[in-house]
Amino acid sequence: MSPIPQTVLGLETSCDETAAAVVRLAGDGAVEVLSSVVASQIAAHAPFGGVVPEIAARAHVEVIEAIAERALAEAGVGYAELTGVAATAGPGLVGGVMVGLSFGKAAALARGLPLVAVNHLEGHALSARLAARLAYPFLLLLVSGGHCQLLEVAGVGACRRLGSTIDDAAGEAFDKIAKTLGLPYPGGPALERLAEAGDPDRFPLPRALLGRKDCDFSFSGLKTAAARLAEGLASDQERADLAASVQAAIARQLAERSERAMALYAREHEGRDLRFVVAGGVAANATVRRRLTEAATARGFAFTAPPLAYCTDNAAMIALAGAERLAAGLSDSLDAPARPRWPLDEAAARASPTHVPGRKGAKA
Ligand code: KG4
Ligand code: ZN
Repeated sequence: MSPIPQTVLGLETSCDETAAAVVRLAGDGAVEVLSSVVASQIAAHAPFGGVVPEIAARAHVEVIEAIAERALAEAGVGYAELTGVAATAGPGLVGGVMVGLSFGKAAALARGLPLVAVNHLEGHALSARLAARLAYPFLLLLVSGGHCQLLEVAGVGACRRLGSTIDDAAGEAFDKIAKTLGLPYPGGPALERLAEAGDPDRFPLPRALLGRKDCDFSFSGLKTAAARLAEGLASDQERADLAASVQAAIARQLAERSERAMALYAREHEGRDLRFVVAGGVAANATVRRRLTEAATARGFAFTAPPLAYCTDNAAMIALAGAERLAAGLSDSLDAPARPRWPLDEAAARASPTHVPGRKGAKA
C-alpha cells in the first residue's frame, strides 16, 4: 500500500529568511513544489555585518502571516486542502524559530491539522529530493553557515553522522574571511565574485587535519592564515588572488573529507547504487560543486545538488520533510519546543561531545 498523498504548508524562520511554501508529496513519492516564497532580511542586517537575532525575530513577526498567505495563494491551495503544517523547530536563532513554530501551531490548531516540528537540518538533508527523484540511502555533505557535516541519510529520522567540523562551519569560514577582505555580508557569494578574477595558486594556505583518518573538518587555521595575509595586501589583484586561494582551499578540504566518507560508505554499501548529495548554502558555490562532482565521479558515486534556490534556506525543504514524516505516520504535539540546538544524529552527538565547536557553539 502506498502512503497517503500529502499537501503541506512549510514555514522557515530559523535565521535571516522568512519563508513559506506548499509542497505536494504523491503516494508514489513524486514531489511537486506548488509554491516557495522567501523574504530575505539581508538589507536589515547588512549594516551590522551579520545577523542580529533581535532584528531577525522582529522582522519574522512582521511578515510571517503575509508570506504564508502568499505561499498558499501562489499554490492555489486553501487550508482546507492541506493535510498538515510543518514548521522549523530548530536548530537556529531561537527567537526566530519561535515565530514560525508558533504561527504553525496556531494554524494547525485553528484548522484541525497535524503539526510537524521539523529539524532544519533534516530539511537541508532532504532538499535534493525537491527537484530530482533521489532514492534513499545517500551520502550527504551538508554545508551551510551554521553546519558542516557528512551524514548517511537512510530516510526521515534516519541520519547517521560520519563527520563534522571541530570549529567553524564552511559558510562561517567564507563569511568571516570575506569580512577580513572588506566584503559585505553575506560574505560567501561576495567572496566567490571577487575570486573570479583571482589566481587560486597565488597564496599557499594550511591544510587541516591531514594526519587524521576521520571525516571531520576544521577551518580555524585557514581563517587565521587568511586574516594574516589580508593585512599585507597591496592591490585589488592580490585581494582577488587571496579570495580565489581561500575558495580553493575550502573546496579542497570539503572534497578531501567527502572522499574519505565516500570510501567508508562504499565499503558499507558494497554492490549497491552509490549516491552523493551536497546541500546547504555553500553548495551554491560553483568551485565547491565542481570539486565535489569530480570527487564523486572518481569514486563511482552519482552526484546530486539541489537547484540554487533550494540550497540556501527555504521553506519547501521544510514542507517536504513534514510531508515525508506525515506519510510515515509521524507528527508532533502542539507543545513541541523551539530548540536552539538540535543535532540531527543525537546518538553521535552525545557520543562525541567534542563536536561542539565555536565560541557561540554550533547550531548542531
Ligand atoms: O543554508 P544557508 O542559507 O543558511 C544556514 O542554514 O546557515 O547558508 C548560508 C551560508 C552563508 O554562510 C553564505 O555565505 C554561504 O551559505 N553561501 C556561500 C555562497 N552562497 C551562500 N558560500 C560560498 N559561495 C556561495 N556562492
Ligand atoms: Zn540552513
